[in-house]
Amino acid sequence: MRLVLLGAPGAGKGTQATRLVAKHSIVQLSTGDMLRAAVTAGTPLGAQAKEIMNRGELVPDQLVIDLIDQRIGASDAAHGFILDGFPRTVAQARTLDTLLTKRNMKLDAVVELVVDENELLKRVENRVRETLKAGGVVRADDNPESLKTRLDAYRKLTAPVSAYYAQKGDLKQVDGMAPIDDVTLAIDKAIGGRV
Ligand code: AP5
Repeated sequence: MRLVLLGAPGAGKGTQATRLVAKHSIVQLSTGDMLRAAVTAGTPLGAQAKEIMNRGELVPDQLVIDLIDQRIGASDAAHGFILDGFPRTVAQARTLDTLLTKRNMKLDAVVELVVDENELLKRVENRVRETLKAGGVVRADDNPESLKTRLDAYRKLTAPVSAYYAQKGDLKQVDGMAPIDDVTLAIDKAIGGRV
């Protein structure tokens, strides 16, 4: 099963991807997590991405395309994967099609978590509280200013990705405002229990 999870910042992509991974033998490929790991490790990729991410802007397409190209061909992704946070521009979506075709792969479903914008800030604030309570490190982009930029980038560059998949007949929309367990059930229903 090869799945794309779309949704605005804080919509619940990571939460749902983790559940799908736990339930099925597939891997989560989160470009955000990969980039944050590169920043923490101080790699050249991390150095290139750090300030862009902190501001809440998207990193250049080619950086994430290279990451995904390597990961979808890796042995642990052979049973399938969930793309969380990729593609985020129509150019990334088109390139993903090319990368999959090159490997004789195709997507089984594209699921968009639909959440009201005013709920997103509350969720991000909640994540900050939970992280601090657990003694963790708060994400550098989890602040109102960066979130505004992340939302602007989402509206301008990522919302057209949903339209791209809708045109192809691949898009399934799920109510991301529902409680977490209900969203999980709705995703299972949307993908027809195919994972
Ligand atoms: P990324 O890490 O992908 O962040 P994001 O899209 O902003 O999404 P989040 O991780 O904030 O939210 P989420 O939807 O995963 O929600 P979560 O499950 O955590 O990207 C970060 C940055 O990396 C980008 O800004 C960009 O710079 C760069 N980047 C990454 N990919 C890129 C790409 N492809 N191209 C270019 N740049 C890229 O949930 C949030 C909170 O809500 C949690 O506290 C959770 O418990 C709670 N919650 C979840 N679901 C529910 C629910 N149903 N009800 C109530 N609370 C809920």
